[in-house]
Amino acid sequence: MERALSGRPLAGRILVGRTEELGALRRLLAQRRLVTVVGGAGVGKSLLAAHAAAAVGGSLPDGVVRVRWWDGGPGRRRTVAQAVAEALDAAVEGTGAAVGVTDLVARLRSRRMLVVLDDFDPVRADCVHLVHALLDGAPGVRILAAGRHPLGLGDEAVLRLGPLALTPSGADGAELAPAVALFLERVRAARHRAASGGRQSPPPRGARCAG
Ligand SMILES: Nc1ncnc2c1ncn2[C@@H]1O[C@H](COP(=O)(O)OP(=O)(O)OP(=O)(O)O)[C@@H](O)[C@H]1O
Ligand SMILES: [Mg+2]
Repeated sequence: MERALSGRPLAGRILVGRTEELGALRRLLAQRRLVTVVGGAGVGKSLLAAHAAAAVGGSLPDGVVRVRWWDGGPGRRRTVAQAVAEALDAAVEGTGAAVGVTDLVARLRSRRMLVVLDDFDPVRADCVHLVHALLDGAPGVRILAAGRHPLGLGDEAVLRLGPLALTPSGADGAELAPAVALFLERVRAARHRAASGGRQSPPPRGARCAG
């Protein structure tokens, strides 16, 4: 299971560079139940988390669910527990019954899955409460969170993400610095869009994943 909050399968996005960070994140996810990717604005936390989730999701019987609070329409207010429940159901907006943290934990008690709490900063306190409850009451659930700062829970493994490197790392035989490669990828994507009359279409090349 790999779904966005809206219930649509997640669109593919290329991940440029980040080989080491992706490997480190996958290792952390194999070892720890709560892993948080932290770093500055726009540094690539959500994209890296999406790629890691896609990579490990196949090994979990109940797959991956990704939750983002700001999906679902402007001004729409939900609790974090409700957002997770809706993402699980891929529910149509407004039809889900109210779900509290206790209900959600009971529902996930026997699941073996990864819950991705993306961009949690605006609902941080709510998230801390839910994550704490899931760690206690749903032993097969793992959590991958992404935000500016750690959640601050005792069992949390933290991956700090810096900017893309400005020099080539030599990883995978890559000759270009990742930051340069990302710039070129964006130019290529912009050209592709322009050539296709501005319509949205899949990126021209590169590794694609949920994101
Ligand atoms: N390594 C990368 N490869 C390709 N695109 C990237 C990479 N890093 C970031 N981007 C692109 O840059 C933009 C910002 O990335 P992303 O949303 O993952 O950052 P973020 O750290 O989660 O941002 P925020 O702090 O706003 O939550 C997105 O369009 C993403 O696709
Ligand atoms: Mg983000």
